[in-house]
Amino acid sequence: MSHSSLREAELQQRVEDTRQMLRSIDQEHLLHFVEELDQDECCALLDQIDLINLPAAAKIVLKAQDSEFKAPSENAIQPASFVPHHPPNEDEARQRGRKLIDGGKVAAFTVAGGQGTRLGWNGPKGSFPASPLTGKPLFRLFAEQIRAMSERSGKTIPWYIMTSPINDADTRAFFTDNNFFGLDRTSIFMFPQGVLPSFDDDGKFMLATRSQVAVNPDGHGGSLRALRTSGAIEDMVARGIQQISYFQVDNPAVKTLDPLFVGLHAGDPSSSGEMSSKMIPKISAGEKVGVFCEVEDRTCVIEYSDLPVALAEAVTQDGSLTYIAGSIAIHLLSVEFVDRLTRDEDSISLPLHMARKKVPYVSLESGALIKPDSPNATKLELFIFDAIPLAERSMVYETERVEEFAPIKNADGGDSPASSAELQFERSARWLEAAGIKVPRENGIPLAKIEISPLSALGPEDLPTEDTPEEIEPGAEIVI
Ligand code: UD1
Repeated sequence: MSHSSLREAELQQRVEDTRQMLRSIDQEHLLHFVEELDQDECCALLDQIDLINLPAAAKIVLKAQDSEFKAPSENAIQPASFVPHHPPNEDEARQRGRKLIDGGKVAAFTVAGGQGTRLGWNGPKGSFPASPLTGKPLFRLFAEQIRAMSERSGKTIPWYIMTSPINDADTRAFFTDNNFFGLDRTSIFMFPQGVLPSFDDDGKFMLATRSQVAVNPDGHGGSLRALRTSGAIEDMVARGIQQISYFQVDNPAVKTLDPLFVGLHAGDPSSSGEMSSKMIPKISAGEKVGVFCEVEDRTCVIEYSDLPVALAEAVTQDGSLTYIAGSIAIHLLSVEFVDRLTRDEDSISLPLHMARKKVPYVSLESGALIKPDSPNATKLELFIFDAIPLAERSMVYETERVEEFAPIKNADGGDSPASSAELQFERSARWLEAAGIKVPRENGIPLAKIEISPLSALGPEDLPTEDTPEEIEPGAEIVI
């Protein structure tokens, strides 16, 4: 038998094996076009089906109704308690956190697998220009912080980055093209998250093309499994990492590793050291952030869309929101906690969040690509904050919006590049003022646009530097 006919025979056997498996889960239609595919397309389809683990996904569809996230009833929900911005043990906690960071026990972890569709950016979201004067991309801003902290502590801080199958290659290329932003490339560990197939109203998976199943990234909650399957957990253990500083790719103001937060989380008797979170006081009842609550004595986040309006709008005697603790999606997780949650396939029991979506699909009848006008499918996602109630005790720490939360999610309006730039300018102005430099203001708004590189200062305590002007004129644009 010639080499090519041998390959052909092997491929036919794979098709038959896959067909049998699909038949057993009633999803055989995914091979509807297989006879029309060339060898490469056929292999791609079979590889994808193997990779997604469709039997497991089919089980998910079957039990989707049971394991779907169900918002707790209104009377079961209480506001979560939190550690105030300046806790009494602040100095002690900061020192403890610094010691852990300086000792190389804390890693940075960015979830960067989202599709960024709302922003309309054609590339990985981390490549979006986010600093307001020099247009440094999000990834560079994080890299510069990590570099500055590593240089100070004399220990390389490893950086784990979760991509998705959709943006993994582009993200890797972006890092290579930018020479890893001056970081040691062996300190960067990149891995794609998993995917979940969308399914139609009959519980059938769909074809995005004749040789591709329609899938979506499995949500940032998929990071737990991806940390395990990618070998990141093992890598952390080998490097002596104890804590993971988790943050989203969309927030240029995040403190990638915060000594005070680390110290409050790890080593304080009020915290189990398993999973902690940062919150900011919400500015309005309708602000689109998850809210820290307590349900059955466990801390949790209830997404804004799931929090009953009556609770979102409830106010205390002094007129402030009762459910005030808004999640800014910054967490610390211990390596042990993630290890425990992911040790075997069934140990991760995060609920599935379902969303109705418009999913383009190939019609089995006509072979044409159909782009639906209204939602036609269910998409499944896991959320990282659903791990919070699985921690023994979970600490929530209050921080300041302007210091740590200037997200870029939408092209304009709230949480846009423009609103983020305003917050970043305000933060720079405050840092300079704290260092004794006068910044001109009108109606409280800084009249100068100032950008401070993380390589120059990580906080007001690092200012002034030799690049800081003694006086700042109204209308000035200054990069420090
Ligand atoms: C999220 C939180 C919200 C919080 C807000 C703070 C959810 C559901 N909601 O809202 O509670 O108040 O941030 O900014 O998370 N990502 C992945 N893989 C995925 C999906 C998302 O890596 O499969 C990453 C994205 O790259 C992004 C982040 O997770 O960095 C946020 O995801 P997104 O779905 O945009 O959540 P938000 O609506 O912004």
